[in-house]
Amino acid sequence: EDGGPDPETFCGHGRGGMGEEVKRKEDQRFITGRGNYVDDIKKPGMLHCEILRSPHAHARIKNIDKSRALDVDGVVAVLTADDLLEHGLATMPTLMADTQDVLVNDKVKFQSQEVAAVIATDRYTAKDGAQKVVVDYEVLDPVVDAHKALEEDAPLIRDDIEGQTDNHCLDWETGDEEATAKVFDEADVTVKEQMLYQRLHPAPIETCGAVGDYDPGKDKLTVHMTSQAPHIHRTLFSQVAGIPEHKVRIVSPDVGGGFGNKVPIYPGYVVAAAASVVLEKPVKWVEERSENIQSTGFARDYDMTGELAATKDGKIQAVRTHVLANHGAYNAVAQPSKFPAGFFNIFTGSYDIDTAYGSLTAAYTNTAPGGVAYRCSFRVTEAVYLIERMVKVLADELGMDPAEIRRKNFIPPEKFPYKSPTGWNYDSGDYEKALDLALEMADYDAYREEQQRRIDEDADKLLGIGISSFTEVVGAGPGKTCDIAGVEMFDSADIRVHPNGSATVRVGVQTQGQGHETTFAQIVAEELGMDVEDITVEHGDTDTDPYGLGTYGSRSTPVAGAAAAVAARKVREKAKTIAANELEASEDDVTWDRETGEFHLIGAPDRSITITEIAAGAYMNHPAGEEPGLEAVDYYDPPEMTYPFGSYIVVVEVDRETGEVEFEKFVAVDDCGNRINPMIIEGQIHGGLAQGIGTAMLEHVTYDDNGNVTGGDFMNYLLPTSMEIPEFETGYTVTPSPHHPIGAKGVGESPTVGSPPAIVNAVVDAMAHAGIKHIEMPMTPDRVWEKLDEAGLAI
Ligand code: CDP
Repeated sequence: EDGGPDPETFCGHGRGGMGEEVKRKEDQRFITGRGNYVDDIKKPGMLHCEILRSPHAHARIKNIDKSRALDVDGVVAVLTADDLLEHGLATMPTLMADTQDVLVNDKVKFQSQEVAAVIATDRYTAKDGAQKVVVDYEVLDPVVDAHKALEEDAPLIRDDIEGQTDNHCLDWETGDEEATAKVFDEADVTVKEQMLYQRLHPAPIETCGAVGDYDPGKDKLTVHMTSQAPHIHRTLFSQVAGIPEHKVRIVSPDVGGGFGNKVPIYPGYVVAAAASVVLEKPVKWVEERSENIQSTGFARDYDMTGELAATKDGKIQAVRTHVLANHGAYNAVAQPSKFPAGFFNIFTGSYDIDTAYGSLTAAYTNTAPGGVAYRCSFRVTEAVYLIERMVKVLADELGMDPAEIRRKNFIPPEKFPYKSPTGWNYDSGDYEKALDLALEMADYDAYREEQQRRIDEDADKLLGIGISSFTEVVGAGPGKTCDIAGVEMFDSADIRVHPNGSATVRVGVQTQGQGHETTFAQIVAEELGMDVEDITVEHGDTDTDPYGLGTYGSRSTPVAGAAAAVAARKVREKAKTIAANELEASEDDVTWDRETGEFHLIGAPDRSITITEIAAGAYMNHPAGEEPGLEAVDYYDPPEMTYPFGSYIVVVEVDRETGEVEFEKFVAVDDCGNRINPMIIEGQIHGGLAQGIGTAMLEHVTYDDNGNVTGGDFMNYLLPTSMEIPEFETGYTVTPSPHHPIGAKGVGESPTVGSPPAIVNAVVDAMAHAGIKHIEMPMTPDRVWEKLDEAGLAI
């Protein structure tokens, strides 16, 4: 009712409200070793589960002999598809309604697929047992490359789907094909480039795991699991197992990073839960690192062709793109049901482009299933990469400065709310302001001069300057357009103020390290005038928390953050009635002061009452005709998504002798609307930029032609370490979201989404004067050197 905090003036008022750098409440337990992760859970009589995985990528199972495994002392059970079939659990639905084997029934479709589960008294015995299971495979030809999978003579992977005669998974299109073709036909200039957004793995520090804990006394199944979305997981568990939802409890304790990897349901979770029901004992399953990389949800794997049509002076008139997506063995992408290509159709980015067309073909391959939103909103990362790379390609074609061409094409501030040609409704933005700040921070003009000097002097190390001015789309719902398995993507908060004036806030989202226990408390502190220290935030338990759709795609702040603010305002409404009663005044004569956090009589600020006094009144002296207590719940269905944005500028040195790339400067200017906790945002940006560097420079899940995962462990899947990470210089602008109750947008994924194209643009920029237009990620020294060689720049 008061429009929320004003970004110009809010400062937390010293109580830890919006805008204050409150230290993370959860860090006390994390840094003193008191976190409680799934693998910390120990139950009396708990058994351990080890999964036997297929060494082959494509093979028919002729026979499984469990006898020698069952002979191992301590092995309690060996489960195969046949055993699960008895309980109706042999298959499970993916988030895209495909049917995935829990344990392979008939045919293996990717290397490391789950074949059998061995349950034993301890983990080592379970592993010994798994090594004693004898599986007779008939090895089939695999196909791992999406292009080859669509060739006529490719081996058929999904012979389990009726009527499926090839490896074609789905087609999708967006925009106006005819109108776009016309603009391209008539354009002064067109550019085209093919680029692979390689297969990545989210690689959280904690791998996936679960403890199934069935209580036969209460006939209730509790599953402690590494879940980014406990409530929807409960719904799916209930559907698959045929157990009513009130008999299933999902507890997601501390989660050591998720990044989208912990959104899908994996066979290990199902096996641990099923084994617990059958054996009536707690069963723990925790995967190893290589199991995590090789079998759980990967990200990206989009082979994209981008095209731009423009005028001679650099005004972009149309975008066209085609994608070949590798979906792996099942259609198990993790995105809202109605978006088969996620939010890829935001590929017009930050630019005011009237005409666009995009199409996509997805193929099945003998690789692990996935397509999860790795620190991103459902393929926005691929879209941002495409458009930000293409703008650089166009700038080079026209000989224009990449900052200048962006400025010329940005959606101007006065055009917001802005409707994109593919149907997105951008809430607010001021792109030029963010770019200008980034250019200034990066000392852009000086670096351009230095770049030219090095070219003129034939220096050994070339300089490249890359820009990315990205727009994000975060905060799914609205529920009518976004759902997961039919459940609308709203979110929730439940606030209870206790008689002594402290409060418990329960939310439907699930933190995995983002600091929700602090920032959600700050929102409530701001809206109720409470001290942040007096507020506890709880999440991750479906028995006690309100239903929510979980944390991924930076949706927590836009959706559950909004719910927290609205629930707090509902509490405030009631608090006002109680305040009037306590002050012996009419409600119309009472007002709330955001700065002091107190209610007072209009015109008499000294006659005021704090939330603590009001809370006491709610329980000890509630007004006649009112319910006692002081609490409220809000289920928030966002009217729209939020559109954070930013400009990143990267300066690199490219060594002409070795192809090595060194970061000289890394500037990141972000705009996430009103900022709840600037310190937490800074941490989010740093972490996300590190992952962007990993993407651009190091990471790739690779396969050989036999379907062996050659990038399936940390020896071969290279994560960035502190050695590869430069100093970041961060800046910000504030453009509040007009529809969000506290004007906030999400921010967690912006740096991962926005930085890879800036880095690639920088490396390309170092060689652009010699005609290089593109280089594929990860930009390893050998790849960079090849490009230097191609351009005649190598020494
Ligand atoms: O959904 P997820 O928590 O991953 O992403 P987010 O909503 O972007 O939030 C990441 C962290 O940054 C949370 O602790 C947020 O509360 C915080 N944040 C903030 O302080 N101010 C914003 N405007 C947005 C996020």
